[in-house]
Amino acid sequence: MVTTRTPLMAGNWKMNFNHLQAIAFVQKLAWTLKDAGHDYEEVEAAVFPPFTDIRSVQTIVDADKLKLGYGAQDLSQHDSGAYTGDVSGEFLAQLGAKYVLVGHSERRTLHDETDEVCRAKVNAAVRHGLVPVLCVGESLEQRESLEDPASVSVEQLKAGLADVQAGAEVVIAYEPVWAIGTGEVATSEQAQEVCASIRRAVSELLGEEAAANVRILYGGSVKPGNVASIMREPDIDGALVGGASLSVEDFSSIIRYRSHVGV
Ligand code: 13P
Repeated sequence: MVTTRTPLMAGNWKMNFNHLQAIAFVQKLAWTLKDAGHDYEEVEAAVFPPFTDIRSVQTIVDADKLKLGYGAQDLSQHDSGAYTGDVSGEFLAQLGAKYVLVGHSERRTLHDETDEVCRAKVNAAVRHGLVPVLCVGESLEQRESLEDPASVSVEQLKAGLADVQAGAEVVIAYEPVWAIGTGEVATSEQAQEVCASIRRAVSELLGEEAAANVRILYGGSVKPGNVASIMREPDIDGALVGGASLSVEDFSSIIRYRSHVGV
């Protein structure tokens, strides 16, 4: 099938960069991509800064009319009220955020976010016009012990998207927990196998058209040197990049993967 899915290169900064560093980084990234003649219609790029940076990123994106997208790393499942420390999707939408990560493995493990919470957060994102980037993926123990490690991602996906309607835009990020920040990247075959299972599950849940349109990203130790081979896989439509998204040189190279020699 000929796909019309625009690849998305997403930089998850995690808890890095204050708002001043964020401004400097975004400016430098935009200049670098401009110098390289990057076409954002061909490969979309977005950053996911800490909450405290988002207003600054919005200001620079608006002032310089940048085509770089941005999103948040989390949101509250609630819209407003007595939820100290939480941030509403409404506030993120007001700041021009397009995307929001939901259920990153660091949220699932460090903040005990269950599938039920992820489902409520996906719904909150959709309610506020944000595109949820639902993160799924198996642990090392699950990869080694389960006959079908893809089933972990499929179950997380079914739970997270349980209330989503077929027309809503969502992005899925397959991030095997054992590949995050470890330098141990999944082989492109391993990543493709799980991403294909994810797409089949989207088809069962939301129909063929939704499955053909949904973008599935791979995340876990993506670097300039391995991105091109990952992107050759038919069911992988982009990358969710952690460490390498903190370097303008590396992240711009990842975004420009199509210009890599031999691709
Ligand atoms: P690394 O690219 O540092 O492995 O992180 C992946 C990740 O968790 C992105 O969300």
